[in-house]
Amino acid sequence: MVRKAVFPVAGLGTRFLPATKAMPKEMLALVDKPLIQYTVEEALASGIEVAVFVTGRGKRALEDHFDRSWELEYKLEHSGKEDLLREVRKVSEMIEVIYVRQGMPLGLGHAVLRARNAVGNEPFAVILSDDIVDAETPCLKQLLEVYERFNAPVIALKRVPDEEVSRYGVVQGKLIEDRVFLIEDMVEKPSVDEAPSNYAVIGRYVLTPDVFDKLEKVEPGIGGEIQLTDALREMAKEGPFYGVVFEGEHFDCGNKLGFLKATVHFALKRQEFKMEFLDYLRTLVL
Ligand code: G1P
Repeated sequence: MVRKAVFPVAGLGTRFLPATKAMPKEMLALVDKPLIQYTVEEALASGIEVAVFVTGRGKRALEDHFDRSWELEYKLEHSGKEDLLREVRKVSEMIEVIYVRQGMPLGLGHAVLRARNAVGNEPFAVILSDDIVDAETPCLKQLLEVYERFNAPVIALKRVPDEEVSRYGVVQGKLIEDRVFLIEDMVEKPSVDEAPSNYAVIGRYVLTPDVFDKLEKVEPGIGGEIQLTDALREMAKEGPFYGVVFEGEHFDCGNKLGFLKATVHFALKRQEFKMEFLDYLRTLVL
């Protein structure tokens, strides 16, 4: 049973400055819901019970978001705004959260290692809130189904064009069944020439606790950071390790264009202004 999901949320969000100068990037909203809430909801819908937030300086808003806000609730209650009150309460009761601090931003691998004690000796998920996936079956759930069949680590994969491989971890592997790869190797942010394939790692992982020992030993990699990919690469060389080409629409909200596309996508799913927004977009096309 995979009960816990680690959310590394200590990043500085420099790509979105000045918006992220005083606000965590995970609190940037698509329409009216912060990125972190999309991914926490995905975790819940996949059966996760506990979230481990690996946080850092300037991230208080994340803690407040998943906590009660009694002043706000009082106000909404007394002004008869029942719907909003329900929304606000729902978020605070959504999931149990454990907070650990990263201290120094030394890389994704370092962030995941910080969650070691909170996770304990059990399999767990890692979710990157930059990656938003809109899917009928939640992306993490698709991974968990493969994990349950093979009892080995599983990561999410997406085929990307050549010009995008250098933004991601990229895998080398064998397709063993529809959408499932047995992974042999992976490289963090390769150049097009070095990329072993066009299958990129997207921010969803189901991992076994032996990853922590690997992370303890991994040397700083690209960008001088402790890379999760480098630890996973060791695991893939030692034992079975799978990748799932998930179904669903993925938005890389770690970059501005991806974020804008996601905003339009989720706005068009909202019945209350879908038609009007579409009409507006059509005037732009003309
Ligand atoms: C991280 C991982 C990378 C992965 C990507 C997915 O990179 O290191 O392997 O492909 O997330 O979004 P980051 O986006 O943090 O630079």
